[in-house]
Amino acid sequence: MAKPIVLVTRAIPQEALDLLAVHATVDANVADVGYTPEELILHAQSADAMVALLTDRVGEPLFAHAPKLKVVANVAVGYDNIDVGAAAKRGITVTNTPGVLTDATADFAWALLLAVTRNVLPADRYVRDGRFREWMMMEFHGAELSRRTLGIAGFGRIGQAVARRGRGFGMHVVYTNPRQVAQAVEEETGARFVDKETLIATSDVLSLHVPLNAATRHFLSDAEFALMKPSAYVINTARGPVIDEAALARALNSGAIRGAGIDVYEREPVVEAALLAAPNTVLAPHIASATTETRTRMAMMAAENVIAVLAGRPPVNPVVPQA
Ligand code: GLV
Repeated sequence: MAKPIVLVTRAIPQEALDLLAVHATVDANVADVGYTPEELILHAQSADAMVALLTDRVGEPLFAHAPKLKVVANVAVGYDNIDVGAAAKRGITVTNTPGVLTDATADFAWALLLAVTRNVLPADRYVRDGRFREWMMMEFHGAELSRRTLGIAGFGRIGQAVARRGRGFGMHVVYTNPRQVAQAVEEETGARFVDKETLIATSDVLSLHVPLNAATRHFLSDAEFALMKPSAYVINTARGPVIDEAALARALNSGAIRGAGIDVYEREPVVEAALLAAPNTVLAPHIASATTETRTRMAMMAAENVIAVLAGRPPVNPVVPQA
């Protein structure tokens, strides 16, 4: 019997390609540049399975041309790039990669948090520019974290991991979430449940960890920035459209908030010109999960999900359409 065909839409770690090759014929894009929508459809036409990256838009236009497709394994925990409802209607399984990127992402939220609150980037430029002549008492003052409030929007795995790190830094941690989490989790993370308005008004650092969906799009916009402390910082390692990017740039430029650490953008890879020009802003190119270990685990998990579905077994990490 002919082996099934697995489409891999852009470069992924070799280990995962090797695993897939044991079970399938692999049609891999070896470039770390995504296919155009037309190229994607062309390759999907003969595919039984697809390992997709978050830069691929996967929905009915593609499904209509992919009669054999049984599974789309997204190499990401977020899956807003996939129309899960359209996939379900066609009986196509969708999977994601939860759990394996929790610590890498939480670490990177903290990397942005520390970089922006302690002026790491301007300080680095200062030294490189040859301007460090002697120790200064009054320059580069940042914000102290201990005893300040760390607010977390979205208290799933990553939000909780960010909270644990916050506790280690001596911060008071509050969170908001569609549901209050179990008391044991609150005790272990040291986090207290509050409503969105309290979170926004009381946070000294507000870190976003919600999935992108209709309820969280523009979770922060002009009205929310107006409620924040002018000394507050915003960190986003979730999804760009969770923040109204133009409103964020306005808040930074007007002094409505003090700074931001941003890894994700509304229209990636485009970044609002006003955000690029905003003060006290650390920007990264969507790399929160980018450690060698984590990216390898993510790709292996996607490959394992594909292999399970092709063998007629339930995948370990299915995602279901939201009600
Ligand atoms: C990365 O952004 C992910 O959702 O895994």
